[in-house]
Amino acid sequence: MKRTLLDYLACPSCGGDINLSSILADDGGEIFSGELQCAACRRTFPIIRGIPRFADLESVAADKQETAASFGWSWQQFAHDDERYEQQFLDWIAPVEPEFFAGKIVLEGGCGKGRHTRRVAGWGVKDIVAVDLSDAVEVAFAATRGIPNAHVIQADIYQLPLRRVFDYAFSVGVLHHLPNPREGFKSLVSKVKPGGQASAWVYGAENNGWIVRFVDPVRRVTSRMSRGLLMQLAKIPTALMYSATKLIYAPLNRSPSGAKLAGRLFYNDYLNYISRFNWRDQHLIVIDHLVAPTAFYLSREEFEEWWQDVAATEVVIGWHNQNSWRGFGRLP
Ligand SMILES: C[S@@+](CC[C@H](N)C(=O)[O-])C[C@H]1O[C@@H](n2cnc3c(N)ncnc32)[C@H](O)[C@@H]1O
Ligand SMILES: [Zn+2]
Repeated sequence: MKRTLLDYLACPSCGGDINLSSILADDGGEIFSGELQCAACRRTFPIIRGIPRFADLESVAADKQETAASFGWSWQQFAHDDERYEQQFLDWIAPVEPEFFAGKIVLEGGCGKGRHTRRVAGWGVKDIVAVDLSDAVEVAFAATRGIPNAHVIQADIYQLPLRRVFDYAFSVGVLHHLPNPREGFKSLVSKVKPGGQASAWVYGAENNGWIVRFVDPVRRVTSRMSRGLLMQLAKIPTALMYSATKLIYAPLNRSPSGAKLAGRLFYNDYLNYISRFNWRDQHLIVIDHLVAPTAFYLSREEFEEWWQDVAATEVVIGWHNQNSWRGFGRLP
């Protein structure tokens, strides 16, 4: 934990200031072990392996606990980085571009392995605070260790231990996995200062009826099965998807004579999009769909209401790959 993080922290119970109450291991730049304490209610929070821990995983509700356990495991299995993540991230937060970030204080809700955290830190932000409930924070911490303007904390998006000081908050692929996505969104944007901005990307209801019908029942089983078995079983759909995307979708979409036919293929925009990814990342995409116990699919109408609920202005809603929604707007 870098000391500059203290500027952004507030007690999740009472909103009080957070101070460093003890330092057990410090290498000069980062505190690896110690304790934080609320100046008002005296509640304490440990710093373990360099990460401030605000969430007590034993006491969060069972559904959140299961989701966190699943993602904690999957990000530790797929801790690698890939250069293609950069464009993928920009496609999720469009119309935001790298230049947008310069000098901003940024909050990331549900950072997973920190693949976006490290990129945003490199785009000139003053600071980025990345939050995740699961053990994925260990991977995100390793990915951003030594980057002075990147901070990782373990916390629940519903109880953020943060002050309302952020210029921009974003959340990619997280809110639809929460027990109440709309409340998660509200909690995230409540930390954006007046006039600041936010982005969110969520699964769409439109065009995904087949997932709700066929994948959801499978997910109910696979999210609870042995992780080793899931890792192996997921290779079957991955092999089908990998062959189809590499041998059919990519070549047809890229050939001038095949493009018209490609447009008629099942789920073409999405499958063509992910044809750029290698085996390991397609395996990760499949695992990502099968490991989470909770997934909501949101209609455009519902997603637009989220932004109306928080009185956002200048809202831009985009339809991504014909299967998901991305939103960007300004908070009042
Ligand atoms: C599909 S992953 C996306 C991670 C990252 N945004 C990315 O795109 O690489 C969803 C993440 O949300 C996190 N998450 C789930 N519930 C959460 C909660 N209540 N509070 C904070 N993070 C949560 C999970 O641990 C997981 O890392
Ligand atoms: Zn307090």
